[in-house]
Amino acid sequence: MTAQISGQRDTRDYQAADAAHHIHAFLDQKALNAEGPRVMVRGEGLYLWDNDGKRYLDGMSGLWCTNLGYGRKDLNAAASRQLEQLPYYNMFFHTTHPAVIELSELLFSLLPDHYSHAIYTNSGSEANEALIRTVRRYWQILGKPQKKIMIGRWNGYHGSTLGSTALGGMKFMHEMGGMLPDFEHIDEPYWFAHEGNLSPAEFGRRAALQLEEKILQLGADNVAAFVAEPFQGAGGMIFPPESYWPEIQRICRQYDVLLCADEVIGGFGRTGEWFAHQHFGFQPDTLSIAKGLTSGYIPMGGLVLSKRMAEVLVEQGGVFAHGLTYSGHPVAAAVAIANLTALRDEGVVTQVKNDTGPYLQQCLREVFGNHPLVGEVQGAGFVAALQLAEDKATRKRFANENDIAWRCRTIGFEEGVIIRSTLGRMIMAPALVAGRGEIDELVDKTRIAIDRTAQEFGVL
Ligand SMILES: Cc1ncc(COP(=O)(O)O)c(C=O)c1O
Repeated sequence: MTAQISGQRDTRDYQAADAAHHIHAFLDQKALNAEGPRVMVRGEGLYLWDNDGKRYLDGMSGLWCTNLGYGRKDLNAAASRQLEQLPYYNMFFHTTHPAVIELSELLFSLLPDHYSHAIYTNSGSEANEALIRTVRRYWQILGKPQKKIMIGRWNGYHGSTLGSTALGGMKFMHEMGGMLPDFEHIDEPYWFAHEGNLSPAEFGRRAALQLEEKILQLGADNVAAFVAEPFQGAGGMIFPPESYWPEIQRICRQYDVLLCADEVIGGFGRTGEWFAHQHFGFQPDTLSIAKGLTSGYIPMGGLVLSKRMAEVLVEQGGVFAHGLTYSGHPVAAAVAIANLTALRDEGVVTQVKNDTGPYLQQCLREVFGNHPLVGEVQGAGFVAALQLAEDKATRKRFANENDIAWRCRTIGFEEGVIIRSTLGRMIMAPALVAGRGEIDELVDKTRIAIDRTAQEFGVL
């Protein structure tokens, strides 16, 4: 058989071969095999084409990662050049290479001055594995080895490796043998789902105070870090009330607990700021990064450390017993440089902040603010969620919200738009290069999907 990956075979043929050999992510494989997966063969800008020639507007940037959209020749050229010159070398044998050095210079020119060092990985999950080990090592060096408990949040997502699963708060993942000792969780700041009568501000403070209670219960001397996404991504693009992050920051500082932001989704312009913690106005000690670092063209992630942490590790730590064969991979680094340069020099992040981001948010609020299926519109920049609700005023959610949202997502595919469902929320995060025309199309097709769903479930 000749090597051929560009849509030269019949879709059913591809599906049969896929079913014979491939286990997919987060799906019932038997059910998927019966249905047959969509076979994507090409991408350009905001659009994808499947093997049967159907075109989709990708409202999810793949999985929150193709920040520059598909088909960028500059990223392709950067990878080719690096493949020609030095396709691989490692960071183990007292060596380095220009690609990783120049990537770090560029990355730290974009980050706030508070940060100075990075540990590179291949993915977001590995960034969080590195986080767990680095945070514990930091406290060991400072003579506090008992400070090792990591506190995460229920319905938080930090990846699919063992440590990142334990850190995350997806119970169905824990149940698949995915829990470890010394991981604890507090509730998520999900105001709409909260049944009480608290205002968002009051609820945000209360949700944050759970962290203080947890630290006091465990003993501050045993708690290494609190880890959270600035806004929850996989959990449903849940934006916490404004009162949340300042209170979390106060608590972490008061109890000498590291504050670690998972910026795997929020980083690299998603909210209109370079990093989501800047949007919310707090100052984490570490940032986990991936996805938008290379616009998903090639796998790369990393853990960014504050100057304070890096100084302890570098000046007092001795041997740091951690490393991956592909840490700082030269081809990934070259693609990341081209990607970050384009995001900066083409004014992409600035445009999301000042123009297209506010435009998307305004359109969504105009179209869905009073829609009978939608209880709340949340988001900023190029990240948004439509909360489905039976009764907006009382925040009553549908008992079968999962089915409704899943159906809406399927209708979206039929209509040629990719939006995702998580529980009762329809979520979107288009490529940051989307212009007003593409935003109009995204909102319009989403409206058709939501209307059709409402009709099918007797709401419209
Ligand atoms: C916030 C967050 N952290 C970590 C990860 C894991 O990243 P990866 O899938 O690259 O391992 C994800 C993936 O979606 C994520 O959303």
